[in-house]
Amino acid sequence: MVYNVIAAISKNGGIGYKGDLPWRLKNEMNYFNKMTTQVKSTDKKNAVIMGRLTWQSIPDKFRPLKDRLNVVISKTLHSVPEGVLLYPELYKAVEDLSLKENIEKIWVIGGSFLYNEAIKDENCKNLYITKIDQEFTCDTFFPTIDPKLFIEIDDPEVSKGNMNENGITYEFKVYKRK
Ligand SMILES: NC(=O)c1ccc[n+]([C@@H]2O[C@H](COP(=O)([O-])OP(=O)(O)OC[C@H]3O[C@@H](n4cnc5c(N)ncnc54)[C@H](OP(=O)(O)O)[C@@H]3O)[C@@H](O)[C@H]2O)c1
Repeated sequence: MVYNVIAAISKNGGIGYKGDLPWRLKNEMNYFNKMTTQVKSTDKKNAVIMGRLTWQSIPDKFRPLKDRLNVVISKTLHSVPEGVLLYPELYKAVEDLSLKENIEKIWVIGGSFLYNEAIKDENCKNLYITKIDQEFTCDTFFPTIDPKLFIEIDDPEVSKGNMNENGITYEFKVYKRK
């Protein structure tokens, strides 16, 4: 089964700082929730796969992320709440999720460890990237999107043009593996 990546990236390539997002963009977060939750078949759900640090960065009141099957990748974590799945490797999680008939789409939602692995993996087909037109102090970064490997596409589900929130401009982009 194929999967997609979703990430918000600053002008300097950053995605995180001190275990958190470097920005607060409510509508951008709504977009993330919409894209990762919406399904065509109402009897199915999407899965969201995340690294341990991303899982731990989600405030208790928001995790597990609702209406999605939450999957955590970690070799050191020994327990997760009921209903959440734990795997030591990304490929194993994707393999198992592909066998589940009630899963519609698989999304890799970060952080940099998983993005680095996904971007090199042929099964990772599309990158849903919010390009934030501002530099932020970051300690975690998204890998370079190689234009030889990915081409920008239009997705009718994705709003076009510049968005503005709290004085920060950003744009939703979609890249497809060639
Ligand atoms: N801007 C965005 O869109 C976005 C999205 C997500 C996260 N973030 C930010 O990114 C930061 C967290 O990302 P991060 O890169 O530091 O950590 P992370 O990828 O979330 O978590 C790293 C941990 O996950 C496990 N892991 C990840 N990839 C693995 C793999 N391929 N194989 C085996 N284990 C793997 C390992 O856990 P063990 O050590 O337990 O084995 C590893 O130490 C936070 O600041 C967060 O807010 C930003």
